Amino acid sequence: MGPENRTKPLEPGKMPGTETLSLITICADEDFAGRLRRFVAVGDVALIQAELQHYLSGESDAALIEHLNEKHPDVCIVDLDRDREEAIRTAERIRDTLTETLLVAASSDSKPDLILQAMRAGCTEFLVKPVSRDQLLEALARASGRKKEPHQTMNGHVLALMGAKGGAGVTCLAIHLGGLLAQRHGRKTLLIDFHPNLGDVALYLRQDRHQYSFYDLSENTHRLDSALLQGFLVHHASGMDILPAPEGIEPARHVSAEAVKRTLQFLRQSYQFILLDCPTGLAEVNTAALDEAENLYLVTTSEVPAVKNVARYAEYLSNFSYPAERVRVVINRYSKGDAISEAQIEKTLRRPIFWKVPNQYREVIKVINTGSPLDLGSSSEFMRSMMGWAEALAGKPAVAAAKKESKSFRKLLGG
Ligand SMILES: Nc1ncnc2c1ncn2[C@@H]1O[C@H](COP(=O)(O)OP(=O)(O)OP(=O)(O)O)[C@@H](O)[C@H]1O
Ligand SMILES: [Mg+2]
Repeated sequence: MGPENRTKPLEPGKMPGTETLSLITICADEDFAGRLRRFVAVGDVALIQAELQHYLSGESDAALIEHLNEKHPDVCIVDLDRDREEAIRTAERIRDTLTETLLVAASSDSKPDLILQAMRAGCTEFLVKPVSRDQLLEALARASGRKKEPHQTMNGHVLALMGAKGGAGVTCLAIHLGGLLAQRHGRKTLLIDFHPNLGDVALYLRQDRHQYSFYDLSENTHRLDSALLQGFLVHHASGMDILPAPEGIEPARHVSAEAVKRTLQFLRQSYQFILLDCPTGLAEVNTAALDEAENLYLVTTSEVPAVKNVARYAEYLSNFSYPAERVRVVINRYSKGDAISEAQIEKTLRRPIFWKVPNQYREVIKVINTGSPLDLGSSSEFMRSMMGWAEALAGKPAVAAAKKESKSFRKLLGG
């Protein structure tokens, strides 16, 4: 090996290509704390931002956690040995609140069930005490490699679609709108099936072999980064990404409103449009999503009970100071001969109808039942209406994209 290929000797305590990591420690015992201090004193691998002497599992620790959050520590090391239960609760809390911080556990006990418990609480490294310098270097090198990369920020729009009644056509509208935004407008688009059970997005788009759902992602907010996200996504031929609903019927999972919001905030940074196919109702996850959404599209048919529900939702939301201008009414399966006219609906709701999608049962049901593609080139009234809606969101599509669309969109639904 020529001299030019020889690797430069490492400065003591310095890893190549790394920046100094900021650490906080929680309940590190005397020996471990001493080792850590000696470790950081040499080189510039890491610096200790804070050494906390008690676990952070109590209500009264909220302010301290908030303060830590402002410091953006890269790594938090929790010594598990003083009190296991308190330590695990602390790790869970750090995982849920300091989402950019990597959690490391330390213990003199290395039994697999303790390691597993620590991992479940969000720890990505486990140090066995007495911790050697090499062990620390390796763990921090891995931590630094995993350090959350800054996202390219898209600051995308979150748009929630919810039916005033079940069966109003939300899934049909969402898959077409998402497909058009991705394919015809070239926008980075994600469609999330928000149903905790029995979601139809994957089924309608013939993407039935998926492993993970939005709920799995929301349970992993402590690990959210683009590499993790890639493992959860289903890529559709239109260019749209999908986060489907859980595959089978599962017992209700509790995902906190906070986790839903954080997940959407994270996703917003990677997409221009995020469409949510929301189940009808105001369960906690839905309301959390509505808080995040720029717009809620309330989808209804022009039938009295459905229109009444729109009025009820609008009233309920206004009682909670949800801005009225964020709610948009979409009439699906509209036809001129409907028993209630457009004017009557607007009068009842005391707000304008944002969009009308015509009733074209045969064309739409073809997609659902057979997976046969809708031809974007067709002058189908349904598709023209959906194109208009997509244009209202994204402007006119580029000419080249419009020329290509007829051919490639054949693949969109069922392709
Ligand atoms: N514009 C339309 N014209 C004709 N039929 C439509 C239209 N939109 C949806 N449908 C039909 O309405 C039915 C319900 O559609 P879809 O599954 O999209 O509704 P949903 O609101 O998502 O229902 P759920 O509450 O079960 O999630 C389907 O059979 C679909 O073919
Ligand atoms: Mg649906």
